[in-house]
Amino acid sequence: MAEKKDLTRRDAVKVAGAAAIAGVAATQFGKAPAVLTARAATNAVKYGMVGTGSRGTYLLKHLKGIDTGQCVAICDIQDEAMNKAQQTIGGSPKRYKDYRELLSDKNVEAVFVTTPLFMHFPVTRDALDAGKNVFCEKSMVFKPEEVHALRALAASKPKQTLQVGLQRRYSAMYQAARQMIEKGMLGEVGFVQAQWNRNPGWKMKDVPNKKMANWRLFREYSGGLVAELASHQIDVADRMLGMTPESVMGLGSHDYLFDGRDILDNVQLIYKYPKGRRLVWVGVPVTSHWAGVDGARTEMGEIICGTQGTIHITIGDDNNKPIGMWFREPAPPPKVEEAKKGGKKEAFKAGATMVAAAGSRPLPILLSKDLMTGKESFLEKEMKFARQWLYQKGILVPLEEKNPVDTELESFFRDVRTGGRPLADVEVGLQDSIAVILSNIALDEGRTVQFSEIEKMGKPGAAPAKPGAKKG
Ligand SMILES: NC(=O)c1ccc[n+]([C@@H]2O[C@H](COP(=O)([O-])OP(=O)(O)OC[C@H]3O[C@@H](n4cnc5c(N)ncnc54)[C@H](O)[C@@H]3O)[C@@H](O)[C@H]2O)c1
Repeated sequence: MAEKKDLTRRDAVKVAGAAAIAGVAATQFGKAPAVLTARAATNAVKYGMVGTGSRGTYLLKHLKGIDTGQCVAICDIQDEAMNKAQQTIGGSPKRYKDYRELLSDKNVEAVFVTTPLFMHFPVTRDALDAGKNVFCEKSMVFKPEEVHALRALAASKPKQTLQVGLQRRYSAMYQAARQMIEKGMLGEVGFVQAQWNRNPGWKMKDVPNKKMANWRLFREYSGGLVAELASHQIDVADRMLGMTPESVMGLGSHDYLFDGRDILDNVQLIYKYPKGRRLVWVGVPVTSHWAGVDGARTEMGEIICGTQGTIHITIGDDNNKPIGMWFREPAPPPKVEEAKKGGKKEAFKAGATMVAAAGSRPLPILLSKDLMTGKESFLEKEMKFARQWLYQKGILVPLEEKNPVDTELESFFRDVRTGGRPLADVEVGLQDSIAVILSNIALDEGRTVQFSEIEKMGKPGAAPAKPGAKKG
């Protein structure tokens, strides 16, 4: 921050201008946008929501500001959850306790499936069969047989939109990172490190109907840390590497949180991708530290490494926007002949050249709003230069203007109306679920699981699938 002292008057003007822009963005992000007064009611997609718990209500908070959708029905097995949802979205949506009744409501065009994981498939299947468009939270399905069944069902309903709640697909920061990789700015991308560490991890709620209220903590209903946390990041690795894994192995144990839960709380996984690529995922409940982005964020993030550079990236939360940093790989040390020619001494250790070069200073990942197109007015160009200058100085960081959750919801309604293919479509969702299911098998059985094994699981004649079944 010493650099701040060196600001010239002109720089200060730039700071003011750029900060004002960032300020506008900050007020738009994290909170639901102000309720739009002129609701585009005539063409708004009429939707219902099944499972109005924590995530459902969070989505409703964001949906409230999106005028291309209109909430006409809510459903939950608990009155209290429905009351909270109704307070959040306002208006007078119909209330249902049985999701099948919501699905037979002709007024409902689209359904948000925000139930616990074990209910995703039955509700999604019945909703598609009832002719609805579906937004299903991640992880899309729970069991191998559901992978095959949903793939076939979705293929038979090409006119209905089916999207999965993997919001990083809709983040401008993650999209910019992907574009940098496509342009070759990271060289050959070969390694992704991802973590989601929570300290002290999920707590057991002491409430009536304890098991269902804490469904995440029980294998009967949940895929544990892998389904709830890693699923987002496996999808990031697939996208950044541009391929899906061949196999997974890992170590998982239940070491810290003993309150009746039966999920693993200490998990490390290694995914083998084609051409020697790897993803290493870590989830432990002893720290929330993340070494990425200079330790400025906690819990979760991904480090994407290539031969010419590395990206640190994280989605953040409602209060902390997605953030990304780019480190260029230091130039390789000179070859021995060149070093001799230049009279330089080279250090050797056990036959290997010692490389103790300083790492590169991080650079910001520029979003499309910051890139020069050549079509800018003088003022726009000045403002872009100003922002880039501030980014370089570390005074501002590029921040996306819209929460990716708002983007994924708006995009869903648009795709429902236009028939467009979601960025997080059924194949993205199923591939992600396959990774979750197979990872849990690898952890439970202590073996390397090939991704091709999914084809034999959950099909007639195959050994019965036992997601969440603890071995030994
Ligand atoms: N995309 C993300 O970042 C993100 C974040 C959090 C949660 N999620 C996902 O959202 C889903 C819900 O998680 P949550 O934290 O809201 O759980 P939650 O327990 O808070 O809410 C689930 C709700 O579903 C209701 N429910 C259970 N069975 C039902 C049924 N048969 N019919 C109708 N309602 C039923 C419960 O009563 C509860 O209110 C999970 O799949 C989770 O992984 C996604």
